[in-house]
Amino acid sequence: MRSLQDGILACIGNTPLLRLTGVARPDIRLFAKFEGANPSGSIKDRPALEIIRDGIESGRIKEDTVVVEATSGNMGLGLAQICRYLGLRLVCVVDNKITAQNLRLLEVYGAEIEVVTRPDPATGDLLTARINRAKAISEAIGNAFWTNQYANPSNARAHLRTMDEVFAALGGEVDYLFCSASSCGTVRGCADYLRQNKLHRTKVYVADSPGSVIFGGNSGPRMIPGHGAGRRPELYEDYVADRSIRVTDEECVMGCKALLSKEALLVGGSSGGIMMAVNKVAEEIAPRATCVMLLPDRGERYLDTIFSDEWVVGLQRIAQEREQLDRPRVAMQPPVPLRRQEQRDPGLSNGQGDRI
Ligand SMILES: Cc1ncc(COP(=O)(O)O)c(C=O)c1O
Repeated sequence: MRSLQDGILACIGNTPLLRLTGVARPDIRLFAKFEGANPSGSIKDRPALEIIRDGIESGRIKEDTVVVEATSGNMGLGLAQICRYLGLRLVCVVDNKITAQNLRLLEVYGAEIEVVTRPDPATGDLLTARINRAKAISEAIGNAFWTNQYANPSNARAHLRTMDEVFAALGGEVDYLFCSASSCGTVRGCADYLRQNKLHRTKVYVADSPGSVIFGGNSGPRMIPGHGAGRRPELYEDYVADRSIRVTDEECVMGCKALLSKEALLVGGSSGGIMMAVNKVAEEIAPRATCVMLLPDRGERYLDTIFSDEWVVGLQRIAQEREQLDRPRVAMQPPVPLRRQEQRDPGLSNGQGDRI
């Protein structure tokens, strides 16, 4: 097997930490860890590499092993790049919501694709259906390695290094760390790093979707990839976050537009959500506090969604319809007959039907 330290794999990690001056209160120090600088374009290159390294070192991945994962997005692309480099077969279990571009990219890297179209009958959740399918495929293949990002401790462990990079760059002075959560690998790794190093000063704030169940609540529609989950991942622990901040899909788009217009940063929807989470709590942040946002990916893959006016109008329409459906409805009561006297009394009406 080739070394994991050479070639394109050597470009994973050590991403730039950018000082942002245009999007936040001028008296706080705001930094962005630009994870889109990883070679396949996202933060998921880190856990993909850590999981494969762990598999090789523990003898569970050999040259003829088939790697299997349930992923429609960045994890699949990270794994596809690494597996291509190492010459390993990769099966990605995707769902029919995968974007045409991600599907093409997975194919170009040489991944084999299995599409799941029906939600899990027990939970109604598509992600559960994909995870079950990935598990079944890896059991059927025999010499398979199921990377299982939702439960694999190596996913979280990868972010001990992410945090090391942040803390080394800022001399340990971090008051707030803002991130997103889906598999919970990022947030769990960040929280574990703080616990292991007794860094009690740093608070972890997570931007989560109103339709996500990770921090409680009910599952609902979510259109921004990487922003929330319809089932609570095994990697989640109650200690991972000091606070979760609900950010709607439309707010994620607003956050992306702010980062683009004020910082010339073209990033994905979950990054926009993180930006909005900072804005939502900005008033509570003390002057001169240091805040770090872990921005998960680049924006180029979202030109037809987040950066398309047409798509955003559709998103707003769906949100309005949902709001109307969610509005508490007053049970219809049979009309109470007015007394004959009230019906006739002209003094109670202005003649146009309005009570005055
Ligand atoms: C764009 C994006 N943002 C955020 C996340 C969430 O990261 P994690 O899975 O570590 O919770 C992901 C995960 O795939 C992602 O692709």
